[in-house]
Amino acid sequence: MFFSLLLLFGLIYHSHSGQYLSGNKNLPVTGKREGNVTLQCEIDDKQILRVELFGESGPIDVCQTEGCSERVSKTAACDVLIKNLSFSDAGTHILRVFYRNNQTNLAQNKIYQIHIYDEITVKTGKPIKLHVLMSFAHKVEKNSSEGWKKVWERRHGLWSDRMNVSEEDLIIKAFTDNDAGTYRVLDYNGETLITVNLTESSSESTNKQDDEDKTGHAISHWHRIVLGVCPGILVMIVIAFLTWRYWCRDYTQAPAQENPESPEEPEDLL
Ligand SMILES: *[C@@H]1O[C@H](CO)[C@@H](O)[C@H](O)[C@H]1NC(C)=O
Ligand SMILES: *[C@@H]1O[C@H](CO)[C@@H](O)[C@H](O)[C@H]1NC(C)=O
Ligand SMILES: *[C@@H]1O[C@H](CO)[C@@H](O)[C@H](O)[C@H]1NC(C)=O
Ligand SMILES: *[C@@H]1O[C@H](CO)[C@@H](O)[C@H](O)[C@H]1NC(C)=O
Ligand SMILES: *[C@@H]1O[C@H](CO)[C@@H](O)[C@H](O)[C@H]1NC(C)=O
Repeated sequence: MFFSLLLLFGLIYHSHSGQYLSGNKNLPVTGKREGNVTLQCEIDDKQILRVELFGESGPIDVCQTEGCSERVSKTAACDVLIKNLSFSDAGTHILRVFYRNNQTNLAQNKIYQIHIYDEITVKTGKPIKLHVLMSFAHKVEKNSSEGWKKVWERRHGLWSDRMNVSEEDLIIKAFTDNDAGTYRVLDYNGETLITVNLTESSSESTNKQDDEDKTGHAISHWHRIVLGVCPGILVMIVIAFLTWRYWCRDYTQAPAQENPESPEEPEDLL
């Protein structure tokens, strides 16, 4: 009875310490989104039978033939290559290697902590959707001058109303320069799963400059038109004015000459 209690205590203690220490014991691996990582198994001179990989969301298919085109495949002796990484590849992974040594079949477990990072450039005013709120994500923090500040936490939700959450995505509705900075996603053990640097797009400012250049061109174009056409119009206006004045003078002068005579005419008739 005492022995089984001791054994039970030992098991609980073991599993607890395993959980708490796993953060420190796990082999850290970092990869860029859309890049590759290799989980090294480090078993030499043994006959490798098979490798298995378990991620945060369960077993992951591993292609067992070297050089195959699958996203996750065995390479070299028993290393596992993960290609085209996505944010959901982050987190704790267990690599189990079955091998044969001295005619006995054995298995080795290694635990890796995969961290994914990325740098994203966002245009001002545009929304940005980050697929970072996987079920094993506990909170998202943003670096500021006062240090890391919480942006989202599983039980609480968001701190900013300029953001939204949709399924597993964190959405910044309209990006401003205040949103630029480093974001990190932590799991329940405080391990960093994902780091994303968001920067404001500089192509926006070059676009603005382009626009200014275009309007500059437009202005000089109008200048040319005005400068080219105006003298012609001016000359025409002057000629028209002079002709009008000439004809009008004749016209106004003629009645003025007749007018003094015309009242006299009726008188003559009367
Ligand atoms: C990832 O690995 C594949 C195949 O080995 C290679 O073609 C590709 O260039 C690698 N990508 C990066 C970012 O290293
Ligand atoms: C990488 O994965 C993304 C989806 O996560 C996919 O859209 C893209 O085509 C993949 N790229 C390559 C080179 O396989
Ligand atoms: C966080 O921001 C501060 C100041 O803005 C900077 O000095 C520091 O290097 C940043 N840390 C990280 C991890 O980005
Ligand atoms: C947030 O997202 C949900 C689901 O996509 C949507 O129904 C809701 O209108 C959004 N809220 C805001 C303030 O944009
Ligand atoms: C993110 O930005 C910080 C500060 O600008 C820099 O120190 C860090 O190396 C960047 N990280 C990545 C993953 O680009």
